[in-house]
Amino acid sequence: MIHLKVSNLHKRFGGLHVLKGVSFEVNGPELIGLIGPNGAGKTTLTNVLDGAVTPNSGTVYLNDQRIDQLQPFEVARAGLGRTFQVTRAFRRMTVLENLAVPALALGRTGGAAELRDKSMSVLEFLTLDHLRNEYAQALSGGQQKLLELGRLLMLDPDVVILDEPFAGVHPKLMEIIYAYIRRVNEAGKAIIIISHQMDAVFALSERLLVLNFGDMIADGPPDEVKRDPAVIEAYLGVDEEEDA
Ligand SMILES: Nc1ncnc2c1ncn2[C@@H]1O[C@H](COP(=O)(O)OP(=O)(O)O)[C@@H](O)[C@H]1O
Ligand SMILES: [Mg+2]
Repeated sequence: MIHLKVSNLHKRFGGLHVLKGVSFEVNGPELIGLIGPNGAGKTTLTNVLDGAVTPNSGTVYLNDQRIDQLQPFEVARAGLGRTFQVTRAFRRMTVLENLAVPALALGRTGGAAELRDKSMSVLEFLTLDHLRNEYAQALSGGQQKLLELGRLLMLDPDVVILDEPFAGVHPKLMEIIYAYIRRVNEAGKAIIIISHQMDAVFALSERLLVLNFGDMIADGPPDEVKRDPAVIEAYLGVDEEEDA
C-alpha cells in the first residue's frame, strides 16, 4: 500500500518563510488536487518532495523510507516522480531517446528491445508516436508536457506530482492528460495535481489540499473545501473575482 507521510516541513529562502510546517498524508491510490494562490509554495513543496530542495526541518517518508535528505534520482528510485511547471525535455535528443533516459539512468531496463517496445507503447498512448524521431525542441509546448508525462510513465512511480500540467495546453491535449491521469490512477498510483484550472481540479480530484503562503489551510473532499470560508477568503473568492 502506497504511503506518503509529510510532517511539519519548513523551508526558508533567506528571510522568506515559504513552507511553514506543512503536513499531510497520502494513503493508497488517491487522486489529490493541490491548489493555492501564486507564490503559495506549491512548487517549492514539490521540489522538497522530489529531493531538489532540502527542507530546513520536517520529514518525508515514502513507503516507510525516509526521503527528505535524498537526491532527486534516489527519490525517483524510491517511487516518487514529478513533472515541471516549466518543462524540461532534453531538447537535442529525439522524443524516443528522451523516454529512454530516465529508465536508463535508474537502471530500469530489460534489454534494448524491451525498452523500445515500452517507449513506443507510451508514445502511442500519448499520441506522440508519429513524432518519435523528432528532436524534442521541435515539439509544441503541450507536446513537451506530454513527453514529460511519458518519461514518468517509463519509471512507473507510486506517487506522481504534476505541476501545472494543463498550463498552456491545447484542449485536445488536455483530454489526453485527463486520460493519462485516470490511467495512472487506475493502475494503483497516487497522483497530486497542482493546477490553477479549477474546473480540471474539481473534475479530477477526490481530495483537495489548499496551500496558502506556506500553511495548509484545508484538506478534504472538494465539495467541502470549496465551501470552507478560509479557503474562499484566501483563494477561491479572489480567483472568481479575477475571472469575472
Ligand atoms: N529557489 C528560490 N529562492 C528564493 N525564493 C524562492 C525560490 N523558490 C521559490 N521561491 C519563492 O518562494 C515563494 C513560493 O514560490 P513557489 O513555490 O514557486 O509558489 P507556487 O508554486 O505556489 O506559485 C515565492 O515567493 C517564490 O519567489
Ligand atoms: Mg508553482
